[in-house]
Amino acid sequence: MDGIKGRRSIRKYKCDPIPEEALQTVLESVRWAPSWANTQCWEVIVVKDPKGKAELATLLSKRNPALSSITDAPIVLVLCGKQGISGFYKNQVTTVKGDWLMFDTALAMQNLCLTAHSLGLGTVIIGFFDHKKAEEILGVPENVEVVAMTPLGYPARQGRAPKRKEISEFVFYENML
Ligand SMILES: Cc1cc2nc3c(=O)[nH]c(=O)nc-3n(C[C@H](O)[C@H](O)[C@H](O)COP(=O)(O)O)c2cc1C
Repeated sequence: MDGIKGRRSIRKYKCDPIPEEALQTVLESVRWAPSWANTQCWEVIVVKDPKGKAELATLLSKRNPALSSITDAPIVLVLCGKQGISGFYKNQVTTVKGDWLMFDTALAMQNLCLTAHSLGLGTVIIGFFDHKKAEEILGVPENVEVVAMTPLGYPARQGRAPKRKEISEFVFYENML
């Protein structure tokens, strides 16, 4: 609970480099995320090149509060999902939810963010950007989609925790009648 409650979306970063071991630990946490029938549809693009990060930053609206984090942090991790795997059996979709790639990549992202936090590193999940252009820039194949990205780096400033709903506001017992 300390890790879960202590993790914040970090939008201001130091430019200090991240030890390779810490990056590998963060990637290892993605590896161990649960997924539909262990299909592991996620793919991660590690962007370190300042030119690549600057290009990614152009895909965010000027109003996105995470904008500067993309260029400030030493690394940006772009989380992608392979289509037609999660939630499928013999190429047939198995539930009304269709492709579960958003679900599985979200679980991977949560592992990533919590592990980064445990190593003193900050993240902020960024979902509001031009996904199609990101796929072009990053050379993402047809059957793969970009889902979200996050900077990874040492926090320059901690965010304040936004207020959460009370448990009573979202939990129902037995049914929702
Ligand atoms: C799917 C998703 C997309 C998000 N997209 C953005 C974004 O584009 N820009 C941003 O600044 N924060 C983004 N966030 C971060 C949320 O604003 C943040 O998690 C929320 O306000 C709670 O704050 P906390 O993470 O510090 O607990 C996103 C979070 C999620 C889960």
